[in-house]
Amino acid sequence: MDLKAITPPIKRELDTFRAYFKNSMRSRVGLVDIVARYVVKQKGKRIRPILVLLSASVSGGINGRTYRAATLVEILHTATLIHDDVVDDADTRRGLASVNAIWKNKVSVLMGDYLLARGLLLSLDHDDFQFLKITSTAVKRMSEGEILQIEKSRHLNIDEKTYFKIISDKTASLLSTCCEIGAASATENEEMRVRMREFGEKVGIAFQIRDDLLDYTGQRSITGKPTGLDMSEKKLTLPLIHSLHNAPRGEARRMITLIKNGLRKKDGAAVVEFAQRYGGIDYAIEQARGYGRLAREHLESLPDSPGKRALLEFVEFVVTRTK
Ligand code: IPE
Ligand code: MG
Ligand code: MG
Repeated sequence: MDLKAITPPIKRELDTFRAYFKNSMRSRVGLVDIVARYVVKQKGKRIRPILVLLSASVSGGINGRTYRAATLVEILHTATLIHDDVVDDADTRRGLASVNAIWKNKVSVLMGDYLLARGLLLSLDHDDFQFLKITSTAVKRMSEGEILQIEKSRHLNIDEKTYFKIISDKTASLLSTCCEIGAASATENEEMRVRMREFGEKVGIAFQIRDDLLDYTGQRSITGKPTGLDMSEKKLTLPLIHSLHNAPRGEARRMITLIKNGLRKKDGAAVVEFAQRYGGIDYAIEQARGYGRLAREHLESLPDSPGKRALLEFVEFVVTRTK
């Protein structure tokens, strides 16, 4: 399953988006422009713009506003990734050196701020106030989710309910926003907007569960980022939360102590093995699939169209993806 299978109905539109996106980050300040160009080169999967475009296409059709919406969310996403790599001290992103690895934290923090401001201006310049309202909620929730995760990682006491709250805030909020503003760019129908928002929320939760799984089972050469990062940062995600709950008390305690004391390289395999043995990996795979099913249900009443079919395939991609 590949994203390429999903994009044919919006191939030309994605090209148009790319031009919008590239232009939207331009700066007359030399270093800002250099970093911006580098970030564009560090191509991601473009999941968020794809969602915006497809959501608009099933809600009445892609138009000029849709491109601004797609650009806005991709700018915000890019800004948060630059900041995220500072927060996580990550040296690679999308298979290339991260911005902080090349230009250090100072430039990364400021560059993230710059992009956030460019996103706001893009909407203000076109009086897209509704877009700002929808996205600002997501940006707020993304920060809250990340901070809640840090708070929990101090005590290693996260339960499944809190895990779902964290991933809903830090990831699903933006994917949900993509679907909602895609719809909002194409129709004034409130029901449609809410439907697409809910679809995005469910698919977003599935997306993050899968992302957390890839931290265990992924290959750096495929994902473009290191594995084992979450556990070494004491972030407990679903595979481990579930296995800690299932394992005999003594063994769970030993695992917690191991993680608390800071994992060394050789411990990584032991944690993966533990997650495997006590069913956490399989459980997380199942949960991602479950959220994928919930997402699909939100689309059921829509008439058949290439856009709808692409969204359904997108769900399939999310729950099976290896990068
Ligand atoms: C990464 O998102 C951040 C998460 C919420 C997991 P993506 O996996 O969509 O990143 P890119 O844009 O494709 O690099
Ligand atoms: Mg992070
Ligand atoms: Mg991750």
